[in-house]
Amino acid sequence: MDHFNYKGGALHAEDVALAEIARAVGTPVYVYSTATLTRHFNLFRQALDWTDHLVCFAVKANSNLAVLKLLGDLGAGMDVVSGGEYARARAAGVPGERIVFSGVGKTREEMAQAIRGGIRQFNVESEPELAALSQVAQSLGATVPIAVRVNPDVDAKTHAKIATGKSENKFGIPIARAREVYAHAAALPGLQVVGIDMHIGSQLTDLEPFRQAYTRMADLCLALRADGHPIMRLDLGGGLGIPYRRDNAAPPLPIEYGQVVRETVGDLGCEIEIEPGRNIAGNAGVLLASVIWTKQGEGRDFLIVDAAMNDLIRPAMYDAHHDILPVRERAPGTDPAPVDVVGPVCETGDTFARGVPLPRLEDGELVAFRSAGAYGAVMASEYNSRPLVPEVLVAGDRFDVIRPRPTIEEMLARDRIPDWLT
Ligand code: LLP
Repeated sequence: MDHFNYKGGALHAEDVALAEIARAVGTPVYVYSTATLTRHFNLFRQALDWTDHLVCFAVKANSNLAVLKLLGDLGAGMDVVSGGEYARARAAGVPGERIVFSGVGKTREEMAQAIRGGIRQFNVESEPELAALSQVAQSLGATVPIAVRVNPDVDAKTHAKIATGKSENKFGIPIARAREVYAHAAALPGLQVVGIDMHIGSQLTDLEPFRQAYTRMADLCLALRADGHPIMRLDLGGGLGIPYRRDNAAPPLPIEYGQVVRETVGDLGCEIEIEPGRNIAGNAGVLLASVIWTKQGEGRDFLIVDAAMNDLIRPAMYDAHHDILPVRERAPGTDPAPVDVVGPVCETGDTFARGVPLPRLEDGELVAFRSAGAYGAVMASEYNSRPLVPEVLVAGDRFDVIRPRPTIEEMLARDRIPDWLT
């Protein structure tokens, strides 16, 4: 459930008409709902309320400081994968002891930054990383808590580009080698083994892969304890999918996911960490755009909007579907006609949807791309020199710009022409 609904014939974010935001900020623009972010975060908390836990929001899904501040103030931890994300989490007021650092290629500078600033745990993905982290920790006179990310070799049954838990993926160390790697980690100075980490993929719509992976994790936890490692935390990663189509069967709910966690790793006495991103932010945001005009092609109509693949790349990159809603509600029975919804960028890949049934839309009318709160703005670029898309946060009947649209002058001012060209 989210807070984007029609009221009085107009699509609203909570109590704010999207048309009012478009008038004030222009389009394209991302619009997020505070109530939805809060609700989704609390659902995960409730799903794990049977045990000690920390819900670490995956910052990569939506890294706007206002969103991080909102979630951090609710008690969220953060899962970061770069020095930039670490700095964002801290700037949003999240203490280091609630931040976990994941990622296959952390640099020594990033390690030092997080150790100096405070960190709950590093999720280490390889032996070279163990060695580097040990050196950096020692050079700073620190001992850092670590979990090793283990690759359980399960099929997450999701899009190949976002599956991470098969042995052929670059992530983690093979589960068969885990005991050896933990022995190595325990012997290295500056590191303190505290847990096990896994993340098997994103947009999972079936709980079975989680069950398989967490069952393997439970076995590994017992084996590692028998080897003498004090495993106290299990980081289960993120990955629970969201409904991208309003009319389709919805993926499992956080509460059902929490039940699988309980059944698989619930009796080990470990603190549970999870790293949901999409499930918290995805349906808490829409991308609001305006129709430029409709163009008649050979046997098909193109609805050209002012948002493009540089603003929301998921359809071009993963063939992802985002429901598209007219902001002005149509009476039931209004005849929809199939159109291709495209942006102005000069690539055929700049297509949001093919042959989707939409009512006739006037030039200048507003449309909303749903489920755009995760992996939307964070993946935006300035391709075709289109200024970075702005972001707005709604809370009840108020809205605030949480990232303004840069002017074209600001965009140009970042470049430098060397002396020898002038
Ligand atoms: N933890 C780790 C270590 C991850 O790599 C990810 C996502 C998450 C947590 C959060 O997963 P989530 O709960 O959001 O599924 N850009 C793609 C998604 C990439 C996900 C990468 N890792 C998309 O737009 O579908």
